[in-house]
Amino acid sequence: MEDRIREQWEINAESFTDLIAGIGTPHHRQILNPCVEELLGDVKDKKLLDAGCGEGYLARYYAKKGALVTAVDLSQHLIETSKKLTEMEDVSVDYRVANICHLDSISNNEFDIILSNLVLLNIPCLDDAFREFYRILRRGGYLVFSIVHPAFNFYGPGSWEMGEKNPDTGRREGVYFKVDRYFDEKEFKRYWTTRKGDKFPAAISFFHRTLSTYLNTLIASGFNLIAFREPLPIIRDPFFEREERIPFFAVCKAEKR
Ligand SMILES: C[S@@+](CC[C@H](N)C(=O)[O-])C[C@H]1O[C@@H](n2cnc3c(N)ncnc32)[C@H](O)[C@@H]1O
Repeated sequence: MEDRIREQWEINAESFTDLIAGIGTPHHRQILNPCVEELLGDVKDKKLLDAGCGEGYLARYYAKKGALVTAVDLSQHLIETSKKLTEMEDVSVDYRVANICHLDSISNNEFDIILSNLVLLNIPCLDDAFREFYRILRRGGYLVFSIVHPAFNFYGPGSWEMGEKNPDTGRREGVYFKVDRYFDEKEFKRYWTTRKGDKFPAAISFFHRTLSTYLNTLIASGFNLIAFREPLPIIRDPFFEREERIPFFAVCKAEKR
């Protein structure tokens, strides 16, 4: 399973790097990232792990804010890309190829903060990841993770019923969001598209789980849930008409007791 997931990200590494473009998509910038940043709080001089860093734009961002950042990803290609992109900036990040479900190279109580941004929905081993996060955090340290909202998961059992294309925004209008078989926890495969509209070369696995599975697995690993957010766009823009009606992302902050 690990090899299969790794291969997807190796094959998609360049397309994914193109999609993120060092800054994230409009949905990341206008909805998710401000919420994550607020929950992370002051990162200065904190030891922060970016767990599943992709091409590393958040690792670099928080390193610039003064965090001492280690960033891991399953994909060798994405770690190499992250290193190259970081060399071009005046920051330092310790990048490593690693599986967040088996963080053997990291010792107990090593980090103050763990950020795992849009990763846990792509892994089959949620309980192992939470157990590892708990082990490597110091007491009082915290985890902030984000996922696509499981109840409105268009990479899983849900999708928008689409209307006409809005000529002003270039997006199709949403008539309503339809969801069925929410309780069937299973793997879905989806293709993403690049900024230019090209299909990614490989399908990506998304492991749909209920919100209660996420939260109960987190709590069973020993964490205290201290914040849960369903962020709205930070700007009023017709482009985000659909995202003002239902939550696109869910974000949790949890503390190691
Ligand atoms: C949707 S991307 C998010 C990347 C980054 N956090 C961001 O916000 O741009 C998911 C990332 O998780 C990585 N990944 C998937 N399974 C992983 C695992 N078991 N351990 C570490 N990284 C993993 C993928 O290689 C990919 O870079």
